[in-house]
Amino acid sequence: MNMSNLGNPLTPAQWEALNRLVEGVTPEQLVWINGYWAGFSAARQQPVSVESPQPPKIQAKPEITVLFGSQTGNAEKLALLLHSRLVDHGFLARVEGMGSYKTAQIKRDRHLLIVVSTYGEGDPPDNALAFHEFLFGKKAPKLDGTQFSVLALGDSSYEHFCKTGRDIDERLAELGASRLLSRMDCDVDYEDTAATWIDTVLTKLHPANDAQTDSVLKTESVLVGTYSKKNPYHAKLLENLRLTGRGSSKDVRHIELSIADSGLVYEPGDSLGIVARNWPQRVNELLESLKLNGSATVLGANGIETSLEQALSNDFEITTLTRPFLEKYAELSGRRQALQH
Ligand SMILES: Cc1cc2nc3c(=O)[nH]c(=O)nc-3n(C[C@H](O)[C@H](O)[C@H](O)COP(=O)(O)O)c2cc1C
Repeated sequence: MNMSNLGNPLTPAQWEALNRLVEGVTPEQLVWINGYWAGFSAARQQPVSVESPQPPKIQAKPEITVLFGSQTGNAEKLALLLHSRLVDHGFLARVEGMGSYKTAQIKRDRHLLIVVSTYGEGDPPDNALAFHEFLFGKKAPKLDGTQFSVLALGDSSYEHFCKTGRDIDERLAELGASRLLSRMDCDVDYEDTAATWIDTVLTKLHPANDAQTDSVLKTESVLVGTYSKKNPYHAKLLENLRLTGRGSSKDVRHIELSIADSGLVYEPGDSLGIVARNWPQRVNELLESLKLNGSATVLGANGIETSLEQALSNDFEITTLTRPFLEKYAELSGRRQALQH
């Protein structure tokens, strides 16, 4: 590494190890390493604490365990949000991934709130496999006296929609636990259902006539206020460099986006979703074949009025037939056979 050593905080051994690491790496690898360390350092500086920040302890309220099974972070994010809402409302709550949960503890956890997604072909996410196996195994204890509720995450275009959440919900009841609240199933746009589940759970947990009940219903505003697929952050493009040579058939790019003012932080392993616009020609074809007026006013995905043409360009998926779409079509047209194909 031919860099000035001025201000270098590394020990000679660390400096040598770093030099060895970057010896012979390609420009693409360097860019990747650069991003990896930036993310690593951001994560270290802003550790995500799952411990309760000094909850105001109100002993009359039950102790709650929030468990999540998550592959790409949606269920985890919701579990952390639920946990922070519980703490805000004075509950003694803890949140844990199913992967690190000591299953022997389940008999003592009298209030279990579970957020879990489904993967593969109706399988649990990786960090929920052992918990799932335990729950369905012979060693699973009787859970009389336990109250629980499940928020199941999934995607209705899969055959086994929300299967893991459904299975866990049924199994807990079979073991004698009672439902604090019926299971709710979330499709791809999970925010609204998740907010309703969190708010209803909070209402159910509050002892009757608790003065705080009135202030409970605000999770939706917390979720809506955060950036999500529904409410994406408009990042500024700082750099767009082609890394592959001129003759190459591949087009690999180094892209830098600024998230400076977003309040977003990222950690190594996070993924980035880019919200693309639909191809204008496709939008026009759709409008023409349906004989619809593109300038008609409609509600966009975020609930704000926009033109139909804009909504089809920016807000909606127009290239894939999803099950919810077919179900609405069947309902509107009265042709259920559409669903059988
Ligand atoms: C490879 C893959 C397989 C999936 N399989 C299913 C499935 O069988 N059933 C279902 O309801 N959802 C399925 N999903 C959708 C996820 O459950 C859904 O995206 C969920 O929000 C992910 O939550 P998580 O980030 O907490 O894991 C699948 C998603 C992927 C990427």
